[in-house]
Amino acid sequence: MTAGASDAKGGDAAEFVEVGVLGSQENARAVVSWQGKKVAVVRHGGALYAFEDTCPHQGASLAEGHVEGGYVHCPWHGWRFEIATGKCRESAYGTLDLWEARTEGERLFLRTHGSGS
Ligand code: FES
Repeated sequence: MTAGASDAKGGDAAEFVEVGVLGSQENARAVVSWQGKKVAVVRHGGALYAFEDTCPHQGASLAEGHVEGGYVHCPWHGWRFEIATGKCRESAYGTLDLWEARTEGERLFLRTHGSGS
């Protein structure tokens, strides 16, 4: 599932649960606990992306990674993950779980059923 910029208002808002706050500025980041995992949420290029925070290589926090060109770069060894799909360029075993995120002001919501549920 691809996350996208959106507002929590809407017909399916009931499927979203408030999980924290996220700044409105470009590159704002948050890490929240959700469905038994740590989820990183990044505002990038006018969209929201929510993906598994723990790097499948050796466990770095991907929320601390550099985001550029649609990829988050792991801060420890540089594996690159496409933030829209979760796919890793360096390893076929490195696909991240994704969730759909929304904001209402700075209130952050995640959809109850992501690919990681
Ligand atoms: S811990 Fe992420 S690439 Fe090694």
